[in-house]
Amino acid sequence: MRLRSGCVGAGAMADAKLRLAQWLSADTWCSGETIAAELNLSRTAVWKQVQSLREMGIDVHAEAGRGYRLARPLELLDSHRILAGLSERQVALLGSVELLTEVDSTNSELLRRSRDHRHGLAVFAEQQSLGRGRRGRSWYSPYAQNIYLSLGWRFEGGHGEWGLVPLVVAIATARAVQGLGAKSVAIKWPNDILLDGSKLGGCLVEMQGDISGPCTLVIGVGLNVSLQGGQARKAIDQPWVSLVERLPDVSRNRVASGLLGSLLEHLHNYSEQGFDPLRPAWAELDALAGHDITLHSTVGKLRGTACGIGEQGGLLLETAQGVQEQLAGEVSLRS
Ligand code: BTN
Repeated sequence: MRLRSGCVGAGAMADAKLRLAQWLSADTWCSGETIAAELNLSRTAVWKQVQSLREMGIDVHAEAGRGYRLARPLELLDSHRILAGLSERQVALLGSVELLTEVDSTNSELLRRSRDHRHGLAVFAEQQSLGRGRRGRSWYSPYAQNIYLSLGWRFEGGHGEWGLVPLVVAIATARAVQGLGAKSVAIKWPNDILLDGSKLGGCLVEMQGDISGPCTLVIGVGLNVSLQGGQARKAIDQPWVSLVERLPDVSRNRVASGLLGSLLEHLHNYSEQGFDPLRPAWAELDALAGHDITLHSTVGKLRGTACGIGEQGGLLLETAQGVQEQLAGEVSLRS
């Protein structure tokens, strides 16, 4: 098992920021002077790093005569704790874990790696500067608040073998969230993770190479763990929710283990047995079944009643013309 921590393309600034984030606490005030001495920084550099933590959405209190204190405790990811939370079987399925402080996107990072070394490689980041969502959207990824994970998984056959992976990943993610104790989780086809109807996370599955041959998919999952207001409200244009709102004591490292373990198990089982054993899980988690929806696709809008998923993992939509399987598009619920 290989464990690596690092920071891609951010250099000394990110290092000072990380050291400061680790040094500051939520319970005790630390004077600027003490921090400067401990971290070998000037007082001005401490102030600049405090500002950059705030820009990243981390609330730091400052008071004359007392110094600095975090508004809320910050739990940084720790690869040893993530591994310790995996079962033996899950560890056996894992290749290695890398923990990055800052990266453009964990998916892009994995896509840059050699295809031969991607299978089973899990990359977590504390922050993404260019986090990517589905359909060309960006994924808001502030520092040390959420989970950003990409995992490489190899399939020997073509599209027929891995075509339903986006749904498998959604089920694995939803089950991981249930395992943490949040029961009201659901999936909005194809792979939005909802908690009480608001978006908790999303999945982005990417492939490179020949659609009909062996390939290693890059499977990205983002989960909001303790996303805080302010910046997030400006950056995200749909109702969202964080796990801490339902599970106030949730640990980011536990979420990371639970998610990684669940992905490893579900991908392995899907590679061995296909999607059929997962159909009952989909039916249980389906947020759309029985609802009147609009499907927005490149060919226009289609209205109908959602009624599960078809053979190819497409959305089954009942319209006046009967039930059709729709393979692509964005769903909005009609009230
Ligand atoms: C969506 O649009 O719902 C999918 C969001 C996927 C975000 C994750 S975060 C980890 C990985 N890296 C990325 O750049 N995107 C995915």
